[in-house]
Amino acid sequence: MKKIAVLISGSGSNLEAIIKACTSKKIEGTVESVICNDPKAYGVKRAKSFNIEVKIINHKDFSSREDFDNELENYLMQCSPDLIVLAGFMRILGDKITSTFNGKIINLHPSILPLYPGLNTHEKVLQNNDKNHGITIHYVSGELDAGPIIAQGLIEVKSNENKGSLIKKIHKIEHVLLPEIINEICKGNIKLQKDVVVYKNLSTIKNGIIRKFYEL
Ligand code: GRF
Repeated sequence: MKKIAVLISGSGSNLEAIIKACTSKKIEGTVESVICNDPKAYGVKRAKSFNIEVKIINHKDFSSREDFDNELENYLMQCSPDLIVLAGFMRILGDKITSTFNGKIINLHPSILPLYPGLNTHEKVLQNNDKNHGITIHYVSGELDAGPIIAQGLIEVKSNENKGSLIKKIHKIEHVLLPEIINEICKGNIKLQKDVVVYKNLSTIKNGIIRKFYEL
């Protein structure tokens, strides 16, 4: 069983999807540690409801980004996870920690990268009248939302769509695709080798990444 660490900042609905997929054996791994940078985040309560303790590393307790990253790095070293999942983790990680865990950290981002790195992706999709919206799961590099892409989930943006409806749909596909990808990584079917994502035994790959369209 692979050891998974999940980092969260908010409601933790993706954390819940990962925990449930582990307990129902849809992921060949277990959530061994959950880390949150906000003691008031709903995700902390959510994790506790599954009897999982949360390590709080509050970024406000540190005077610099480096100090926060160092504390996080030390804690993660103690946990020695096989995979670190940033699931709604709203802090930017610096070069040192991302290179320490190179090939072991993945991030979930709510846009079809390289479109819209950073915040407010749903608003940007609506402002630009985009036909599609979606999510990207990628390995984390030192650059924000820019590491090697593993998989993307896409949806159609309908004419009556608003921010709330998009958030609901995005969450829906995140809760399906993220556990699937975590499982493939745990099984050794997805790896990062020399900054390139390498796939084994997977059939849904187009132009070097997994791309799935969801009818919602
Ligand atoms: C997700 O939509 C994720 O893509 C974004 O923040 C949201 C986190 O949701 N970065 P939750 O905390 O997992 O409910």
